[in-house]
Amino acid sequence: MQTTIRVGILGATGTVGQRFLQLLDGHPQFRVTALAASDRSEGRRYRDACAWRLPGDMPDAARDLVVQAPAPPLDCDLVFSSLPTDIAGPVEAQFAHAGYPVISNSASHRMDEAVPLLIPEVNPDHLGLLDRRRQDGAGRGFIVTNPNCSTVMLALALAPLAARFGVEAVAATTLQALSGAGYPGVASLDITDNVVPFIAHEEEKIERETRKILGRLTGGRVAPAGFAVSAQCHRVNVVDGHLAAVRVRLARPADPGELRDAFASFTALPQELRLPSAPERPIVVRDEPDRPQPRLDRDAGRGMSLTVGRIAPDAVLGHRFVVLSHNTIRGAAGAAILNAELLLARGYLKPAD
Ligand SMILES: NC(=O)c1ccc[n+]([C@@H]2O[C@H](COP(=O)([O-])OP(=O)(O)OC[C@H]3O[C@@H](n4cnc5c(N)ncnc54)[C@H](OP(=O)(O)O)[C@@H]3O)[C@@H](O)[C@H]2O)c1
Repeated sequence: MQTTIRVGILGATGTVGQRFLQLLDGHPQFRVTALAASDRSEGRRYRDACAWRLPGDMPDAARDLVVQAPAPPLDCDLVFSSLPTDIAGPVEAQFAHAGYPVISNSASHRMDEAVPLLIPEVNPDHLGLLDRRRQDGAGRGFIVTNPNCSTVMLALALAPLAARFGVEAVAATTLQALSGAGYPGVASLDITDNVVPFIAHEEEKIERETRKILGRLTGGRVAPAGFAVSAQCHRVNVVDGHLAAVRVRLARPADPGELRDAFASFTALPQELRLPSAPERPIVVRDEPDRPQPRLDRDAGRGMSLTVGRIAPDAVLGHRFVVLSHNTIRGAAGAAILNAELLLARGYLKPAD
C-alpha cells in the first residue's frame, strides 16, 4: 500500500503557498493537513484568509482548514516552508528541532554547511549531509532546501555540461517574472513600460548557490565548484517564467550540436525512480530562433522542465544559450515537492508514529 505523508504548509496563503496547495491536490503520497501563515490569517478558515490568485478554485481539502501560527506542534509529518526569508530562519530551525522534516523554499538555511541545497536531478548525493547528522545523533527533524528560483534553472542547465565537458566560467543575465517577488510584488507603476535592473540579494544568491549545488560532497562537507559565476538580474513585466541568457566557458572544445545533445538527452535519478513530479525530460530543447519565451514555454513538463534554446558559439566565453523555467513551479513549490518525493523514495521520510 502507498504510504501517505501528512504535510503542513508554512506561508500557505502566499504566492508559493498557493502553488503548493495546487500541486499537492490529488498527490499520490502527500496529503495537506495543516496550514500556517501570519497573524493576519491565523484563526481564520483558509477560504476566508486567502485571496486565491491561481486559475481555478482553491482545493477543497484546504478550504475549511483553520490557518495556524507557524510554530510546532502542527498536525502533520513534515512541513513545506514558503515563509519570507526574514522569519523563515528561526521558524524552520524550531520545527527541525521539534522533530519535523522541513522542506524549505526560503533562502535562510540554503548555505548552512549541514543543510542540503538540493536539485534531485543534479546532486542527490548531497543528501549524505543528512546521514552525517544522523550519525551525530540528531533527532528525526532536519532541513532540506531548494535553490533560488533563478539558480535552479542555471544549475540544472549547467549539470549536463559540467558532466560532459567541464565548466570553467559562467555569466548569466536574468529576466525575472513578477510572481517571483510574491504578492503584491512590484508596484504596477514601477514595472509597466519598464525593466528594473535590481532584485535585492538575487545576484549573490545565484553566484554562491550554483557553486554549492554543483560542488562535491567529500568528508561530510560540500566543497563548492571551482568555477566563477557572475549574475546580473532584472525584473521584467512578465507574470510567470524566469529567463536567463547564459555564457559559459567549457573545459574542453565542443560544438553547439554536442551541447544540444547534452541538454536534450539529460535524464537523472528522479526520472529513473519515476518520482510523481519528475518531468519525463528535465530539459526541453527548442530549435526555433525565437524560443524559449515565458508565455509559450513556462508550462513545459507541467512547469517542471526547463526549456533551452539559442545554443550558439560565443566570442567571449565560447558558448551561449538561453534557458527558461517556471519560477513558482520548478523554481519553488514544484522543486520542494520533488525534493520531498526523493526523500521519501530514499527512506528519509516516514509517517509519525
Ligand atoms: N515567488 C517565487 O517565485 C519564489 C520562488 C522561490 C522562492 N521563494 C521564496 O518563498 C518564500 C515565500 O515567497 P512568496 O512569493 O510566496 O511570498 P508572499 O506571496 O509574500 O507570501 C508570504 C507568505 O508568508 C506569510 N507570512 C508573511 N509574514 C509572516 C510572518 N511574520 N509570520 C508568518 N507568516 C508570514 C504570509 O501570510 P499572510 O497571508 O497571513 O500575510 C504568506 O502566506 C520567500 O522566502 C521567497 O523568497 C519565492
